[in-house]
Amino acid sequence: MTSRYARIAGWGKYLPERIMRNAELEELVDTSDEWIRSRSGIVERRIAADHEATSDLGLRAAQEALHCAGVDASEVDLVLVATSTPDYAFFPPTASLIQEALGARNAGAFDMNAVCSGFVYALVTATQFVLSGACKNVLVIGAEVFTRILDWQDRTTCVLFGDGAGAVLLQPTDRPGGLLSSVLGSDGSGACHLLVPGGGSRNPASHQTVAAREHYLRMNGREVFRFAINRMPEAVATSLDRAGLRPSDLDLLIPHQANQRIIDWAAKRLELSEEAVFSNVARYGNTSAASVPVALCEAIDQGLVRPNAIIGMVAFGAGLTWASAIWQWNT
Ligand SMILES: CC(C)(COP(=O)(O)OP(=O)(O)OC[C@H]1O[C@@H](n2cnc3c(N)ncnc32)[C@H](O)[C@@H]1OP(=O)(O)O)[C@@H](O)C(=O)NCCC(=O)NCCS
Repeated sequence: MTSRYARIAGWGKYLPERIMRNAELEELVDTSDEWIRSRSGIVERRIAADHEATSDLGLRAAQEALHCAGVDASEVDLVLVATSTPDYAFFPPTASLIQEALGARNAGAFDMNAVCSGFVYALVTATQFVLSGACKNVLVIGAEVFTRILDWQDRTTCVLFGDGAGAVLLQPTDRPGGLLSSVLGSDGSGACHLLVPGGGSRNPASHQTVAAREHYLRMNGREVFRFAINRMPEAVATSLDRAGLRPSDLDLLIPHQANQRIIDWAAKRLELSEEAVFSNVARYGNTSAASVPVALCEAIDQGLVRPNAIIGMVAFGAGLTWASAIWQWNT
């Protein structure tokens, strides 16, 4: 049976215990706390323990989301994991590892990779499964251990990222709201600006790729910055327009937490006040697909998401990709 609306019935997050402050990075590369703070707004980030992989982080967030919703793992129909740092380079899917560890024995499971836009892509995808009537309980997880693909000799990238996971449980409901509109975008002509050049089918792992440090993330920061400051506000404006709303109708914008300057720029372009834009980039850095769900969890826990609130979730990342969802809180 089809359902008219989807709702977020539960939410959870997990951040590894270990905190790495900017001062520690000063020991590794030629950088400074002042440079990192002023160029990105980042003060500290979390680093997964040696024994932790992406599925371990995702599992903890998913367990919290199920607990929050009061739903048993056996009731979950689908586990959807947004990640670009899976436990294994090719397979099995990280989603299957989480499904097994949860005890979600009745669930299908697959990964989605839209990098930092991944969670918003996955949320929009999962909503379709709920609205079509195909699923009653869908776990949507954004989980990353980005610090494992960072080149700790490259000061232009290693200072910006961190590890984490966030999850939501989606269910059908008769209460109006949920996903009002979305924008999913991609411009593959910018693929070269943010990539891991080695270890895939184009440039398989070899002694040479390892020696050339090609298994680490490479980024043209200026190009990505330019892309982000334009696309992020544009995607929010377009999705609002599709919902028949204006920026002033937004109660809270939850943007991808990559850089405080990008967040501020988007807020300015959309004429949103500081209070209407959530930020925790100072504490976690860029956690890629985990960034939006972790921010959503913290916004809810801080009482910033009230019944019927109109929330915007927006992200951008490698691909290049972008995604925006307008969600009315009907939980
Ligand atoms: C990476 C970023 C913070 C750099 O900020 P910026 O103001 O553009 O800085 P620039 O790239 O112009 O670099 C300025 C100088 O600082 C230097 N620099 C770069 N990283 C540094 C660091 N960690 N510490 C000190 N100096 C650094 C550069 O080498 C450059 O020196 P140069 O002028 O001698 O070449 C910014 O471009 C950015 O945020 N881009 C988007 C990245 C992003 O969000 N990626 C994830 C997408 S999901």
